[in-house]
Amino acid sequence: MPTTHPQTIALAGVGDLGKYICEELLASPHFSVIVLSRGKQKEKWFTERQIRVHTTDYTVPSLLSILETTSTTTLISFINDPTPARRLGNLSREPDYYATSRQPFRNTLRARKEVEWTLFNVGWLMDYFLPARKTWMKPVPGKFPVDLEGWSALFRGSGEEVQSWTCGKDVGRGVVALCGADEWESHTYVAGEWSTFNAAIKVLEKLYGRPMPVSHRSWEEIQHSLANSRDFEALELAQVEEMMVMGYLACPKEKTLRQREKYFSNVRFMGLEELLRFAEGVDFV
Ligand SMILES: NC(=O)c1ccc[n+]([C@@H]2O[C@H](COP(=O)([O-])OP(=O)(O)OC[C@H]3O[C@@H](n4cnc5c(N)ncnc54)[C@H](OP(=O)(O)O)[C@@H]3O)[C@@H](O)[C@H]2O)c1
Repeated sequence: MPTTHPQTIALAGVGDLGKYICEELLASPHFSVIVLSRGKQKEKWFTERQIRVHTTDYTVPSLLSILETTSTTTLISFINDPTPARRLGNLSREPDYYATSRQPFRNTLRARKEVEWTLFNVGWLMDYFLPARKTWMKPVPGKFPVDLEGWSALFRGSGEEVQSWTCGKDVGRGVVALCGADEWESHTYVAGEWSTFNAAIKVLEKLYGRPMPVSHRSWEEIQHSLANSRDFEALELAQVEEMMVMGYLACPKEKTLRQREKYFSNVRFMGLEELLRFAEGVDFV
């Protein structure tokens, strides 16, 4: 947790989402940013922004050496390692592969009292409602229920299940605000909006002036996939679909709004309509 300014913030595994945090940290006079990565293939994006990339194998000695020599005060990890995991038991609020990709690291954190940490939850990335050229997030057709480029939607359940979503830019603003906070809670939530997919496509239809064809996958179909899928990707998708129908991808409203007041009073989170209007003037090339 930072105590003095300017502070060095290290971002580990900057893929898509991490770019928004880089941009907002660069825009802040209070922080400088470095990136940790296993490879150099993404270097152009960073050199264009004069961000130093430190190559690491993410082992403890390698990480400690970089964090110590750069006097890093906060490490933010975006590492996304979707190594296959088997179904572990009952439906949980997270897909099962988190058991291998996230839990071991979280258990390590919980055991280390000298490290202050928080898990940051944003619900859905609202950017998936944008054309691909207007966001750093790569499209995930087939997973996110609305396929803007294909102009169609596949709802899991009725489309009335409550979801929450936050745009990448606001995630960046939120993370920067949190970097300057005096203390963290174990779970931090942000949400630009609570809504439903039915309501979201009405917003899109109004903006684009044409109806969007919608199909549905039922709870029974999802359960059938969960019981019978053999390959990891199909199983992972079915787990996320199950969570969508259960409303588990929505951030808890009361806690999120309390934390918005506590940590993010300077961040004005955009709703979907506002993001779509904002994005009209933005192009990512
Ligand atoms: N809520 C949502 O709607 C939503 C949407 C998208 C993503 N997310 C979450 O946001 C985070 C970042 O997502 P992203 O799409 O930006 O991530 P990403 O591009 O898929 O991956 C992030 C980084 O993880 C590192 N990585 C990948 N495989 C690894 C492995 N086997 N071992 C170690 N490192 C590995 C890579 O870093 P280097 O190659 O640089 O080392 C990569 O750049 C993830 O936690 C993801 O689950 C949430």
